[in-house]
Amino acid sequence: MVTQRYSEDLLRKTQLLILLACTLQVCMAADVTGNWLATEEQSDGTVRRTYLDLKQEGSNVTGTVSLRYNYFDIKGSTPQGADAYTLTVNSGRPNARDMNINIKLVGDELQVDSRFRPNAPPSHVVAHRVAAGEGAKPARLPVPELHKVPYNGLAKTPPMGWNSWNKFAGKVDDAGVRAAADAMVASGMKDAGYQYINIDDTWQLDRDAQGNIRPNKKFPDMKALADYVHSKGLKIGIYSSPGPNTCAGYEGSYGHELQDARTYAAWGIDYLKYDWCGASNIYKDEDMQAVYQKMGDALRQVGRPIVFSLCQYGRSDVWKWGPDVGGNLWRTTGDIRDSWDSMTKIGFNQNDLAPYAGPGHWNDPDMLEIGNGHMTDTEYQTHMSLWSMLAAPLLAGNDLQNQTKETLAILTNRDVIAIDQDAAGKQGKRLSQSGESEVWIRDLSNGGKAIAFFNRGGQTADITVKWSDAGLKSAPKKARDLWLHQDLKVKGDEYKASVPSHGVVMLRVHA
Ligand code: GLA
Repeated sequence: MVTQRYSEDLLRKTQLLILLACTLQVCMAADVTGNWLATEEQSDGTVRRTYLDLKQEGSNVTGTVSLRYNYFDIKGSTPQGADAYTLTVNSGRPNARDMNINIKLVGDELQVDSRFRPNAPPSHVVAHRVAAGEGAKPARLPVPELHKVPYNGLAKTPPMGWNSWNKFAGKVDDAGVRAAADAMVASGMKDAGYQYINIDDTWQLDRDAQGNIRPNKKFPDMKALADYVHSKGLKIGIYSSPGPNTCAGYEGSYGHELQDARTYAAWGIDYLKYDWCGASNIYKDEDMQAVYQKMGDALRQVGRPIVFSLCQYGRSDVWKWGPDVGGNLWRTTGDIRDSWDSMTKIGFNQNDLAPYAGPGHWNDPDMLEIGNGHMTDTEYQTHMSLWSMLAAPLLAGNDLQNQTKETLAILTNRDVIAIDQDAAGKQGKRLSQSGESEVWIRDLSNGGKAIAFFNRGGQTADITVKWSDAGLKSAPKKARDLWLHQDLKVKGDEYKASVPSHGVVMLRVHA
């Protein structure tokens, strides 16, 4: 009897102890429920944050994981031994793939192993508990009613300049931007028409107590940098996102649009590339126009002419409303890569957008890859020619300090640049196509025409155009080969160009 009462007593005491321990959260040791944060300081001084908002019921874990600009919903969980789970997550964006994140509770730390892109290196971080709700997706701010933002009078011809992303990505810094400005002048690119020195993603640190955006260690003094670029007779551009974060996971302008526009103006910024990326976590594609309009309005208010470059990869027929939000140019495609395949897929796909380009507002098939090393010079000539036929912005994306004379000759071909910069601003169109040969034509001011013969095939090809098909009554009085820099005497009904594999012959003709 005594023993039984003693053990009942012990049981009751133990239960009490467990209850007390659970109240003090000791028994939660094996439960991942809660908010977690892992921080990784990067070399530029910014802190990359991975947040987990987890709820465990039995062996099932639900919630969200946020990394850089992405909020991923947990769709399923599989236990992997004691206190460890594989979480299947998805960002919920169109065509987004499921991804796996492995978590393991070790003491009061949560070890998180992930690979957010199939080819990305695996990431291992250690998260700690934070206050409930910390790192949750920001609430969606209301978007303004649509109206027409007045034209800012800029970019009467397609913007020309340099952008840091294609070559330097996260390695862009103050010294590199100054060097690009120096090289733009010294190389003769400035004289050929290049003007903007544009800093792309990864310049941001965080916001100060008043919410002002601060550059990271790589950019100690933005105003001084802008002054330097201006002292070279050039203009300077910057990059942000309408979302909380940029594509590379840096601070965006969400909820700080006007404040950031004021900051840019105070620094002396002349050009803003505004990249959707992190905005996709907050807004729907239907909101895009209003969201871009918000920044378009902000830029109008700050008393400085700032070119407004929309970057949302050509979604939601941006060419139809880009000018209405004050946009001077808008990306029409996803990101270009330095390959023949990528460049031609983008470039030759722009035909239908021709009606939307004109002085002050341009289709932007993305920045140039000329000189970045993975195409031949012949292919880079095609890149330069095609972009010029398309009245595309010419934003060099190479290392201006270390470019071959062939690269420089391509980028500074004034005959071709003059086509790109033609004042009429009419985007060229495909005139004919036969197999892998294409002829494109562009109407120029004063009745001239540019005609480009492109050979996308693997062998040299003869490509012919009848003058009558090009809208000319007879052989033009004036004709110039823009890569040979030679005036031509042309006769007869047609012109036959012998075009090397992946190459181009480009003419300027005048009846
Ligand atoms: C997106 C844009 C690129 C570049 C990167 C920076 O991918 O399309 O042009 O700005 O973001 O993160």
